[in-house]
Amino acid sequence: MESVDFAEVLSPDPAHFEHAVKEDLSTIQAEFAALLRNVSDEKELATLKVHLLGKKGRITGLLKELGQLSPDERQACGKRINELKSYVEEALGEAEASFVDRQMRERLETEWVDVSLNLSRRPVGNLHPVSQVQYEIEDIFSAMGFEVLDGPHVETDEVNFEALNIPKEHPARDMQDTFYLEDGNLLRTHTSTIQVRGMQRLKPPFKIIGPGKVFRSERIDASHEVTFHQLEGMMVNRDIKVAHLIHFMKVLLSSIFRREVEVRLRPGYFPFVEPGFELDIRCLLCSGKGCSVCKQVGWVELLPCGMVHPNVLRAGNIDPDKYSGFAFGLGLDRLVMMRYGIDDIRHFHSADLRFIRQFR
Ligand code: PHE
Repeated sequence: MESVDFAEVLSPDPAHFEHAVKEDLSTIQAEFAALLRNVSDEKELATLKVHLLGKKGRITGLLKELGQLSPDERQACGKRINELKSYVEEALGEAEASFVDRQMRERLETEWVDVSLNLSRRPVGNLHPVSQVQYEIEDIFSAMGFEVLDGPHVETDEVNFEALNIPKEHPARDMQDTFYLEDGNLLRTHTSTIQVRGMQRLKPPFKIIGPGKVFRSERIDASHEVTFHQLEGMMVNRDIKVAHLIHFMKVLLSSIFRREVEVRLRPGYFPFVEPGFELDIRCLLCSGKGCSVCKQVGWVELLPCGMVHPNVLRAGNIDPDKYSGFAFGLGLDRLVMMRYGIDDIRHFHSADLRFIRQFR
């Protein structure tokens, strides 16, 4: 800042004062204007302001000294000093405003964020398709008053077989190739164990489902895995009949496939149900005309089910003369494969993210 000595021009000393005031104040104005032009930031501006208008500032000083003049002179000088004061105040105000403005423009230029810029996204995971369908079915049954139960993967022979009417040495054990553990326990071969646990926990009437992983010593191929998923269902009440089973299966399947499905029951053997059925649905692809998916039959085998065997109810402390029930065991993997047209069950546990990410 070029230094003009205001002390000299606007001296509070009375002798100088008269001189100064009588002098054309426009000179002071011009000098002030020159100073102002050289101010480069807000700090310098503030200094200049204090220098002129502060308590000990030059203009303030001039006004204070007015008292020493004769009334006539005072009026004339006072008017002129006040004019100068307003001029200075206004000019300082404008300068201040323009600094704020400049600062704002600078910030806008340097601090902007391009919200349209495509930044690389953080990877977000998604649920496995089997989990997605499992949760969907849980919702469907929960809405109908079913309780969702869980159970351990490692089970006793009692829960996995005996309580389900499959005694030791019974040929039906051959239907499920079992992983036995050294301590005599086993990896559950089906979620029917959850039926047993449900009967232990609940008093009839009750409605439960139990989803989960199951394990079998299978030769692995496109449709067989050693670990796969089932969803068990069981309803026990007075006078439960096959019609109830058909009703709930139709609700389930039309919700899952999002359209009306036609079902049929064929006899099927499972030691824990009597009668036992294989439930088929009318092929969704060809509507029953016959295609490669239904192997030209028009029907696709979907899930095993049946009326709970009296021995099973008895093992669960339920009197079969008072209560009856149905049960079903839905193969989740197969259902997911049908729904999305997945041709190989091995994708499910492949840990291949390219597969999983298709189900976002
Ligand atoms: N637990 C049987 C299986 O895994 C399926 C099933 C469940 C059949 C309930 C009938 C009733 O093969």
